[in-house]
Amino acid sequence: MKKLTLLGSTGSIGLNTLDVVREFPEQFRIEALSCRSSIEQLAEQIREFQPRLVCVDKDEQAGELRQIFPDTEFVCGMKGLIQISTDQGVDLVVSGIVGAAGLKPTFSALKAGKTVAVANKEPLVMAGELFMQTAFKAGAKLLPADSEHNAIFQALNNEPPESIARLILTASGGSLRDRPLNEFEHITPAQALDHPNWEMGRKITIDSATMMNKGLEVIEAHWLFNTPVQNIEVVMHRESIIHSMVEFVDGSFLAQMGLPDMRVPLAHCLGWPERLPLKIPRMDPVSLKALHFEAIDPKRFPCLSISIKAAMQGGGAPAVLNGANEKVVASFLEEDINFLDISKTLHSVMQQFYKTISLPEVPSFLKYIRTIEDAVKADQWGREQAMKIMS
Ligand SMILES: NC(=O)c1ccc[n+]([C@@H]2O[C@H](COP(=O)([O-])OP(=O)(O)OC[C@H]3O[C@@H](n4cnc5c(N)ncnc54)[C@H](OP(=O)(O)O)[C@@H]3O)[C@@H](O)[C@H]2O)c1
Repeated sequence: MKKLTLLGSTGSIGLNTLDVVREFPEQFRIEALSCRSSIEQLAEQIREFQPRLVCVDKDEQAGELRQIFPDTEFVCGMKGLIQISTDQGVDLVVSGIVGAAGLKPTFSALKAGKTVAVANKEPLVMAGELFMQTAFKAGAKLLPADSEHNAIFQALNNEPPESIARLILTASGGSLRDRPLNEFEHITPAQALDHPNWEMGRKITIDSATMMNKGLEVIEAHWLFNTPVQNIEVVMHRESIIHSMVEFVDGSFLAQMGLPDMRVPLAHCLGWPERLPLKIPRMDPVSLKALHFEAIDPKRFPCLSISIKAAMQGGGAPAVLNGANEKVVASFLEEDINFLDISKTLHSVMQQFYKTISLPEVPSFLKYIRTIEDAVKADQWGREQAMKIMS
């Protein structure tokens, strides 16, 4: 039986993971759960899965839950997240927190030599090289749970980086793929959150609408599969049936396909190296009839080229971009800025970054991410620049 810590159990990744665990109670046991604010939902999960450990954000939340569940150990905040990610009784950590908040717990799990199913892409964007080196040194296994990266992981099936000619990430195009560009300024958060193919958390759904999500995924793929950024391409594929593909040096292409359902990549990580017989709706190739692929329109999706440039730059650039993006997406969701301000602000933050790193006196975290603290500082720098520009 595999013993699991689920970081972010009340989110979209968390709920999909619990669905898989529910189907295979003889193979998985939930040892630890965590959330930030969805305490009622968490209480239901504690009742059902009876974890030994639970992490919440604040002491008061823990105090209330202790009254209801006296046999469960409650821990709090970042210290608590690190504790449940490194607990000796845990074999597999599912990293499903959104944003930079998942950086330290995910990193600590890898450092402790755990197997980690990573959905939370932002930490890999911020400190990918450090993550891969740490996992290697600690003998930890990093399993890609993001659907595109899981598709590549399956298609690669342990082939070495030298056999890869190109990684091709597919993108649905998100909620605004067919909106006239002249309407973008007046797009509301509700419209941008209306994704045609996937039900996901709010931040990633906005990132899909701007295609920043695909930009973050290019950086993630670069580190996970040790592939140069220039060998990673993005194509639009409206149906979200092919989740990504690998072109090998001999001209063969391998793609992973299926209906868009996050339980598939999550179950692949949970069961790995074995496959679980999941009970889910199956793809019928005959009813599909056709699959479509289109080039990405750079005018519609400027965030993709902003992130590819940051990926090529390396050093602190991806972490700066990530921090700035988290800030502008939150501001858009709060209706403080309009949809077009997202890409405009990110462009200005990155211009400021490129100007700053050409100066003789530069904080080293903007040039190199050598430690987790460097990643946190670079992310914070990006947030601060975004705030200045937005105000
Ligand atoms: N959703 C998908 O299908 C999908 C697919 C691929 C990759 N991903 C990646 O997976 C990650 C999670 O996405 P999601 O869609 O599941 O997000 P989500 O639905 O917003 O869920 C986020 C989870 O993290 C918790 N959380 C948020 N901020 C936190 C903080 N500061 N400290 C501790 N916990 C915090 C939330 O707790 P509360 O509920 O209490 O707020 C919730 O449990 C993201 O990095 C995303 O890019 C998601």
